Order: sequence, then C-alpha cells, then structure tokens
Amino acid sequence: MATGSIPRTTLGEGASHEGFLRHKGFRWLKIALFLCLAAGLAYILIDVQPRPSGGSWVGYTLGTLATLLILWLTMLGLRKRAMTRGRWSLKGWTSAHVYLGLSLIVIATLHTGFQFGWNVHTLAYALMMLVILSGIYGIVAYSILPEALSASRGEMTRPQMIDAVMKLDRQLQLGAQPLGHEDTAIVSASIAESPFKGGLLSRLSGRRPRCRTARALALLRPRLVAAVGPGGEALEAVVALLERKAAALARIRRHLRLKAQLEVWLYVHVPLTFALIAALAAHIVSVFFYW
Ligand code: HEM
Repeated sequence: MATGSIPRTTLGEGASHEGFLRHKGFRWLKIALFLCLAAGLAYILIDVQPRPSGGSWVGYTLGTLATLLILWLTMLGLRKRAMTRGRWSLKGWTSAHVYLGLSLIVIATLHTGFQFGWNVHTLAYALMMLVILSGIYGIVAYSILPEALSASRGEMTRPQMIDAVMKLDRQLQLGAQPLGHEDTAIVSASIAESPFKGGLLSRLSGRRPRCRTARALALLRPRLVAAVGPGGEALEAVVALLERKAAALARIRRHLRLKAQLEVWLYVHVPLTFALIAALAAHIVSVFFYW
C-alpha cells in the first residue's frame, strides 16, 4: 500500500489495511462479535419490564463496558507513538481498535435502551457514532485511495512534480520577455503563484477558481488570433508553456485532492473523540448526581 506520504498514520507499510483487519485470523472481529452477542442476549433475555434502559443493571453494565472501551480506544493515539512488536504490536492494537470500536454500535445502542432526546446523553451517543462513522470512512479510504494516489503521480515522485512546474516557470519567465508590458504582467502573476496554495477545503474540492495560470491562458489565448510577426511567435510559445503548466498543476491538484481525502477523516475522528470524552463525562456526572 502506498501510504508513505500520509502523516500521523499507523496504516502505512508495516500495517496494511488487509494486514491489520485480518490480524491473527480475525481474532478481534471474533471477540467483538462475542461481545455484541453477549450484550444482545443480555438485553433480550433479561426479563425486565419495561425493557432494560441505561438505568437498569443491564444498562449500567453495558454503559460501563462502553465507557471503558471508549477510554481504551482513545489511548490508540498514545500507543501509536510507542513502537513495539509482539502480542501487543501496533498492528494488533489497531485491529482491536477497529473491531471493538465497531462493537460499540451494538453495546452503546443497547445501553441507551433506544431512549433518545435533546440532552447530553444523546449528545454523547451522537458524537460516538460520528467518531465511529469517520473511522469507517478511514478504513474504506485506506483500502481504495492509495492505489489511485500512486496512479495520480504517474512515474513521478512528489519533488519531481514540483520540479516540473518550476522548470516551466523558468521557461515562462524567459519566454515572456519579448511580450508587451501587460502580457508579461499576466505571465508573471502565474509564476508567482504557489501550486500548493489553498486550505483543506480547496484541496478536497480540487478546484482553484482563482488559478492565475488558468486566468493567464483565458486572457492570452484569444490574443493569439490577432498576434503576428516575432511577437506573435513569442506569444504562441508562452501559451503552449502555460498549457503545459496547467496540465502539470492539474496533476498536482489531483494528487493533493486524493491525499486530502485520505487524511480528512482524522480531522474529524480525533477532535470529535475529545468532544465525546467531554460529553461522556457530562453524561456520567449528570446520571450519578442529578438523576
Ligand atoms: C468511539 C470509538 C472510537 C474512538 C474514541 C476512537 C479514537 C481514536 C483515536 C484517539 C485515534 C488516534 C488518532 C491519532 O492520534 O492519530 C484513533 C485512530 C484510529 N481509529 Fe479510531 N476511534 C473509535 C472508533 C473507531 C472505529 C469504529 C474505527 C474503524 C472502523 C476506527 C479507526 C481508526 C483507525 C484506522 C485509526 C488509526 C489511524 C492512523 O493511525 O492512521 N476508530 N481512533
């Protein structure tokens, strides 16, 4: 899996998604399924009327289990930064993280007893579900996007892609010298622009409505019709260079877009985890002190 350039991830070479999802013959999937089954049976078979909710002993047990799981899942952030092998390898830890994280859908939902409302309890539940959904997105993204990411680079490395644009910029600078003042200014503006400008949202959309290279092309192409003589030839060469630069920029932006799609979920997963911990603390305090 080509995730070498993805920062802050445990899912790179050492732990491909297949590797950690299948870890030790799906050990953590089996444990997670067992937990879900036990929680489901406890919920169905315990003869309480009305059906068990957060306040019953089944509810307290499931709530405690869910809280401990959430705290443990949160510790992956610390664990990721301490590399060890063996029984508690990062791969095993990530495998457990994914499957036990998914088991919370069953455990925490049964803990709620399906009682939802506009309160801090449902807020904690909703945040947990958002963290889980972002985690699912992460797993799907890591299984689909890395191949597209390497394809988007073609045979080029990232520095080579940047180098190609810089070379074109140098050629443009020389090529624009015979042009008139106004045309030179248009070309210079496109050279001054960084291909990496733009925040996460613009990287995700892959669109740069104010791209100065596109603007230069839009302004200079129509002038080709009227241009004659040596000035016309220079303009023709500059437009050809701008077209090559636009193609090189499109490749970089496609690459940045895929990379952003691969990273974006962590910007949701991690901050919402902290919001979840805060809501969970408020939920527990309100249950024990104000119920
Ligand atoms: C309430 C449940 C969950 C909590 C509190 C939680 C929390 C966290 C935290 C704190 C990290 C460490 C991020 C970092 O420091 O970079 C993490 C990483 C991760 N989480 Fe979760 N998570 C939960 C559920 C899930 C689920 C259900 C999945 C997948 C289906 C998942 C997939 C992942 C993956 C793959 C990573 C590792 C990312 C990487 O290293 O690149 N998580 N999670």
